[in-house]
Amino acid sequence: MLQRYLDFNATCPPLRVALDAAEQVATQAPGNPSSLHWAGRAARRYVDDARDKLAAYLGAESGSVVFTSGASESNNIAIHSVLSASEPGAIVTTAIEHPAVLKPLERFSTDTAKAQGWSVTQVRPEASGVVSAEHMIAAIHEDTRLVCMMLANNESGAVQPVQQVADYCREHGIRMLVDAVQGLGKKALSFKSLGVDFMSLSAHKIGGPKGVGLLLVRRGVKLLELTPGGGQERGRRSGTENVPGIAGFAAALGEVDFESFAVIRDRFEKELSERLPLASIIAKDVERTPNTSLVMLPGMDGETLLMQLDLAGFAVASGSACASGKLDPSHVLMAMGLSEQMARSSIRVSFGPGNSEDDAIALVDALVTVFQRLKQMAGMAV
Ligand SMILES: Cc1ncc(COP(=O)(O)O)c(C=O)c1O
Repeated sequence: MLQRYLDFNATCPPLRVALDAAEQVATQAPGNPSSLHWAGRAARRYVDDARDKLAAYLGAESGSVVFTSGASESNNIAIHSVLSASEPGAIVTTAIEHPAVLKPLERFSTDTAKAQGWSVTQVRPEASGVVSAEHMIAAIHEDTRLVCMMLANNESGAVQPVQQVADYCREHGIRMLVDAVQGLGKKALSFKSLGVDFMSLSAHKIGGPKGVGLLLVRRGVKLLELTPGGGQERGRRSGTENVPGIAGFAAALGEVDFESFAVIRDRFEKELSERLPLASIIAKDVERTPNTSLVMLPGMDGETLLMQLDLAGFAVASGSACASGKLDPSHVLMAMGLSEQMARSSIRVSFGPGNSEDDAIALVDALVTVFQRLKQMAGMAV
């Protein structure tokens, strides 16, 4: 059976160029980058070169780059750095953030935290999947300590108006974190032009190794060392750097042309709408990341669909990728105002390197087959 991978928003399997770079560094510069001798200096050079390349690509200063184990850690560092140094106050975020933002913020919405003066406002998106900049700004007040907003949603692909919110936060001296994980390689990014305090990124979404990411930090903004130790990353994130992973991250930069997958995605959506007219595409009318299609199939259970598609060789996601395997309905779709049942009837398809229109058509064929089978099993006319 042909296996087709269509879950690139969950992870983009490592590119050859990234694996080669990681292997080369692991074998040729096996020293500890903190060591002062020749072996350490060789490893340090790879880390510094990668830092410079990433910073240039992201429109940031090299000194802004703090390497981490991934965007989850980056988000946690940013959130706790700001909030541990602030008087209790308000936090404003969106209801469609990744759990890597929503979960760390839960600590500030417990009864104890509320009694101390903390509050967390989750601004809901419009039915289109976009959180309005006006609604975000209206939720920000003088006592707001931190604003967290993602650049693009991992489920729907909907691009969020971060620039407008960033402009407002900068004018009012309010700290802002942008989780840009799903935008990397898909949208032009400039940390300096955006003008926020923090930006989180992850290597494995662009074909780099897993377990490597970075946090961009605006000059002068202090970080809390979440895991105190040897003082690496200029005392901002302790722990020996993942040198091969970092080199692999830099090597993967700009290697995947995500824009080119829009043709495949659009073909998939056109074919699907013709052959399964009950299917609806979420966030279709707004700017989306070019490889992403979130499809709702009313009356079908997303988990069942996913399992049936899996048996037919297709790797797609239901609801949040990081939550796949979990039965919770998508919090993103629920926040967009869909019922729990509707929110359970979605699958996310995300295209990437190696995919072709043939994969898109094969997936539509499989969806039609699975749909008819499940309908028949339910004793309904197709
Ligand atoms: C929007 C977003 N933020 C954060 C993460 C977490 O990234 P990492 O796997 O590097 O911790 C993901 C991964 O799915 C994501 O899509």
